[in-house]
Amino acid sequence: MEIKVVTGDILEINTPAIIVGLYEDSKELYGITKILDEVMDGAISQLRNDQEIKGVSGEFTLIHTLGRIAAQRILVSGLGRKDNFDLNAIRALMGNASRYLRTRGILSFCTAPHGIDSVILKPVDCGQAIAEGTILGTYQFQNYRTNKENSGNTEKVTIVSPKSDLSASMAIGVGQGEIIANGVALSRDMSNTPSNDLTPSKMAEIATMVAREGNLGIVILDRTDMEKLGMGALVGVARGSHQPPKLIALEYKGDPDRPKHVLGLIGKGVTFDTGGISLKPALNMENMKGDMTGGSSVIGAMKAISALKPKINVTGVVPTTENMPGGDAQRPGDIVRAMNDKTIEVINTDAEGRLILSDAMVYAVRKLGVSHMVDIATLTGAIIVSLGSVRIGVFGNNQEWIDQVVQTGNDGGERMWPFPMDDDYGDQLKSTFADMMNVGGKEAGSITAAKFLSEFTEGVPWVHLDIAGSYRMVSDKGWHVKGSTGGPVRTLINLALADSG
Ligand code: BES
Ligand code: ZN
Ligand code: ZN
Repeated sequence: MEIKVVTGDILEINTPAIIVGLYEDSKELYGITKILDEVMDGAISQLRNDQEIKGVSGEFTLIHTLGRIAAQRILVSGLGRKDNFDLNAIRALMGNASRYLRTRGILSFCTAPHGIDSVILKPVDCGQAIAEGTILGTYQFQNYRTNKENSGNTEKVTIVSPKSDLSASMAIGVGQGEIIANGVALSRDMSNTPSNDLTPSKMAEIATMVAREGNLGIVILDRTDMEKLGMGALVGVARGSHQPPKLIALEYKGDPDRPKHVLGLIGKGVTFDTGGISLKPALNMENMKGDMTGGSSVIGAMKAISALKPKINVTGVVPTTENMPGGDAQRPGDIVRAMNDKTIEVINTDAEGRLILSDAMVYAVRKLGVSHMVDIATLTGAIIVSLGSVRIGVFGNNQEWIDQVVQTGNDGGERMWPFPMDDDYGDQLKSTFADMMNVGGKEAGSITAAKFLSEFTEGVPWVHLDIAGSYRMVSDKGWHVKGSTGGPVRTLINLALADSG
C-alpha cells in the first residue's frame, strides 16, 4: 500500500472517493467536509437535516458527485461526539472506511486530515493514526489461500492537506505509522500462522531476520544452553515435544549514555499449547496456535524499534517451545528447578506459560542486565472471564511502572485494566513438596498466575500483561480484523519511544 500526503485543492483531485467526517453533536461542518458540502449544493447538510446522516461512529454514506468535482464519490463518515474524537477514533475510522470502500471495489482513495481543523490534533499524530488505521484495518492473512490473486486490497491512500507545512509534518507521521503498523503486521502474521509451520525454530529464524535487517544483537539458546544455565522450568515444558525449544534474545542498544537502563520485553512463545499431559479439550484448541502472541509482539515491537531508533536500550526475550504430551513429557507432580534455584511442583502441565516465563525473566535480569521489564503472555483463560477481549489484564510489583504501562496502553487504544496483587493470593500457590506449585486453584486464576511470576522478577520493576482475551478478535472492528490482533505491539513501541532519553 502506498500512503502519501499532497498539498492541494480537494476540488481538483481526481480520485474514486474522498473520505470526510461529520460529528454527531456539532451542527457545524469543518475543513474539507464544509468545502465539499458547498460545491455539492448543500447535499451533506441536507442529508444531515433530514436525519439520514447522524454522524455516529461507524456510519458511512456514499454520495456520487456526478461530475460536479473531479472526485467521483464522497464517503461521509460518522465521527461520533466531538469531545470523544481522538487519534484512536481516527485509527478506527480509517480501518472501517477503507474496508467499506474495499467491499465496493474501491482500492484507491483520498482522505481529509481528520481532526486538524476541528479538535486541533497534531498533524504528525494525525498522519501516523491514518497510516496505522488504514494498514492495520485492511490487513489480510492470505498465505494459505490458493485464490488470493482474485481478492484485491487497498493500494493507494492520499491525504489531502490544504497547507504545505501541515503536509510535511503529516508525512513524517505517515512514515512512523507505516513502521509501527508493519511491526504489528509481523506479529499478526506469526500469530495467524499455523503451528505446523510456525515452530520454535521458525520463530528463531524470523527473529534472526529482524536482527539482521535492524542491526540488532541476537542470542539464541538451544536446549543444551538452557540446561547448562539451570532453566529447568523451560526445559521441563519442552520435553513433551519433538520440536527443539529456543530462547531468543534481541538487543537494541540505542542509549550508550545509560548502559544500566535497559527495558526488557519478555514474551511467551508457546507455538502450540495442547495442555501437555493435562490435555486440553478439543473444542477451540486450534486457537492455541496463537499461544506465542506475547513472543511475536516482542519480535514485532523490536522490528519497529530498530527502525524508529529511539534513544533507549531495549532487550526482547522470547522463550519458545511447544507444549505437547509426548512420551517424555513432564507429568503432574514432577518438580522442576528454575534458573533462580526455586523449585516448582508442576500440578497442571497446562499452566506452562508461567514456567517458561520464569526462566526467561531471571535470564533477562541476570544475564542481559534488564533494569525494568514488561512480560506479555496469553497466560490464563480466567482473564477472558474477567475482561473479555476488550481489555488487557495488568499486574505488577511497582505502582509507578504499572501506572505508566496502563496509561501508555490506554492512550494508544490498547486498553488495559489493573488487578490487585495482595500477598494473600500467593498463599494459594503453597506446595507440600516444593517451594511453590504452578497453579493456585479455581479462584482468581489470573492473579495467582501473576503471583507465580512475581517470584522470578529478581527485584526489578515488573509489569505482566495477560493478553489471553485480547490476542484475537472474532470479527472486524476498527483497526482490528478477524484473527490475531498482534498483541499490544504499539504499547511496547510507545513505552520505548516515551523513555527516549
Ligand atoms: N494458553 C493458556 C491460556 C489461554 C486460554 C490462552 C485461552 C488463550 C485462550 C494457558 O497456558 C493455560 O492453559 N492456562 C490454564 C491455567 C490453569 C491450568 C491454571 C487455564 O487458563 O486454563
Ligand atoms: Zn496451557
Ligand atoms: Zn499456554
